[in-house]
Amino acid sequence: MVRKFPVAWVVVVLVLFGLFDARAKAETGAELFIRLTCYSCHGAEGRGMIHPETREKYLLKKKVFNSLKTAGVPDDIIKKLKPLNKKKFEQLDEFLAALAPLLGPADLKTYQALILEHGGRVYYRKGDLMRGFENYPILAGNKEIYLFTQMKDILEGRRINGNSDAMRGIKPFLVTNKITDKEFRLIARYLSQVKK
Ligand code: HEC
Repeated sequence: MVRKFPVAWVVVVLVLFGLFDARAKAETGAELFIRLTCYSCHGAEGRGMIHPETREKYLLKKKVFNSLKTAGVPDDIIKKLKPLNKKKFEQLDEFLAALAPLLGPADLKTYQALILEHGGRVYYRKGDLMRGFENYPILAGNKEIYLFTQMKDILEGRRINGNSDAMRGIKPFLVTNKITDKEFRLIARYLSQVKK
């Protein structure tokens, strides 16, 4: 008795520990989506690879003044812009706020479009898809069963097109991580619940 008790106790502890450990390890669909690198092609929450912020630049310099002149902006207006020579702005609001006191509201309104066209550049806007990912599918808000079967079809080679090799590239990684239908279903359910 004296000897058996600790053994039984150890077994109970091990079993309990195992249960807690398994629970601690059970990942949600959202966590799997990140750990399995899905987000790196399908974007955060499967919303597509979109830019989180706008990237733009406004810079007046000699070349811009010349092209404004060619575009018909009068010399006195160009002269008023000179204090901004070589000052870089990364936000449209800030650039307009700097132009306003130099030109006054009426002239700003008249020449704003030309100044932005020649002195500004928008690389991309918030929400634009990143280059190279334009035709990668957006997963958020699709039907669970659809997402699940498509994942399986792509990974198991039943859905093949010019894009699908990219997705199959992670297959060895999924195999190493022992990902089964259970995890694919969890991910599909999670994605289906994300608002489009
Ligand atoms: C290396 C880039 C890449 C990674 C990583 C990736 N995918 Fe994809 N996925 C794609 C591409 C590209 C397609 C489109 C393939 C096609 O059209 O057959 C696709 C298609 C899908 C589709 C079908 C969507 C539809 O509308 O038909 C689902 C679902 C999907 N992926 C889920 C996942 C999940 C879940 C993961 C993570 C386990 C993942 N993908 C990881 C590139 C990737």
